Amino acid sequence: MPQLEQFRERVESASKSHQYSSYLHVKQAVFDMLDRMSQEGDAPSDYWSAEVKGIEYLLDASPLLVQTLRSHCYHLTGIQDYDYRGHHSLRMPHFQSKYEALAALDSWGLFVPEDPRLGGFGHELDAGLTNVDTLKFYEVLIGLKMAGMIPSPKESESSPERVLEIGGGWGGFAYQYKTLFPKTKYVIIDLPQTLLFSGTYLLSLFPEASSQFISSGEELANAASQDLPDFTFIPHYLTEELGQLNIDLAINMVSFQEMTTEQVSGYARVLRDGRCANLYSLNRERSRYNDQLTGVINVLSQHYRMDYQDLLPIQYTELVIPRKVFGPLELLRNLAIGNRRRAIGQLRSPLLNLMNGQLPRKKAPISIHAYRHAFGRLS
Ligand SMILES: C[S@@+](CC[C@H](N)C(=O)[O-])C[C@H]1O[C@@H](n2cnc3c(N)ncnc32)[C@H](O)[C@@H]1O
Repeated sequence: MPQLEQFRERVESASKSHQYSSYLHVKQAVFDMLDRMSQEGDAPSDYWSAEVKGIEYLLDASPLLVQTLRSHCYHLTGIQDYDYRGHHSLRMPHFQSKYEALAALDSWGLFVPEDPRLGGFGHELDAGLTNVDTLKFYEVLIGLKMAGMIPSPKESESSPERVLEIGGGWGGFAYQYKTLFPKTKYVIIDLPQTLLFSGTYLLSLFPEASSQFISSGEELANAASQDLPDFTFIPHYLTEELGQLNIDLAINMVSFQEMTTEQVSGYARVLRDGRCANLYSLNRERSRYNDQLTGVINVLSQHYRMDYQDLLPIQYTELVIPRKVFGPLELLRNLAIGNRRRAIGQLRSPLLNLMNGQLPRKKAPISIHAYRHAFGRLS
């Protein structure tokens, strides 16, 4: 058969797929939201107003594009399938060691690999397909467990019933969460254009799941008075209505940092007033280019009792964990137990530094541009 005809057949078959019909369904819902948004006039931050222009073409996606939706998610989290192709496998050991460092903190089995459907990509570790987003989500799941906000997957029945993700991006964290805790009613609030990604992704990967897309305050009030489906998608301009949903746990990652002070404060206030007990954040205090925000923890602390949570000594964007710096007690201990080789090893790099004229450095204060895990409880 000629190439063109073969290609037409592929497109024809993709146009009849569940993924593409999910996309068309979500697209209609997004246009309903955009109609409402133009009446409500609630604009995203300056940064996101520019970003949504870059993803407008997704409103006109072909069936084949939908089948490789993950290749277009770099607009949201900056990672690209190109970096995970065979010729980049040199970096695979770094992914493996970062995965192992996280797995050493996880005695509960919280790792969920990237799903290969819709063009999912990553390095093929023994644990499964892994990219920077996969590890970021893993880190947050471990943080949530350490903060006592989620149970282990073995006790998934006792998972918070209603979980809200603010700024859910392409839906990758929701996918992991719902895989571990299938009974959870998962709610995403995001810009309508971004819901096109998460809606299509999640409806495609969970074809049996129930879902609803809300575009108005009346629809939200109606939804709040009934059982929630597996997934609920809400546009950002309905923030003020969220309290009615009785959310148990709210999560935000790499997103508050890009909003305005009013938006972050609005979310925290509405959640507090709606008695949402737990709030989890992985954010910079403020993104470098964002001059519309005072600071994430600064704002959240006005509504929640916030604490920081330390996981790894590196940022989620970094892969290589620096070697441990040993203190004098550990050195003495190794000398005392006759482990001279270790003690010499521990002394070597500080001594070399001194010989090179470098004085021991004081710990630098944590930058406001560093990503930090933090959790908040109602006061
Ligand atoms: C950098 S992406 C991060 C996505 C996801 N949290 C992750 O880490 O993979 C920032 C997210 O915040 C969303 N966002 C921006 N302004 C928002 C607002 N006012 N309300 C809700 N979400 C917003 C964007 O659409 C996007 O999904």
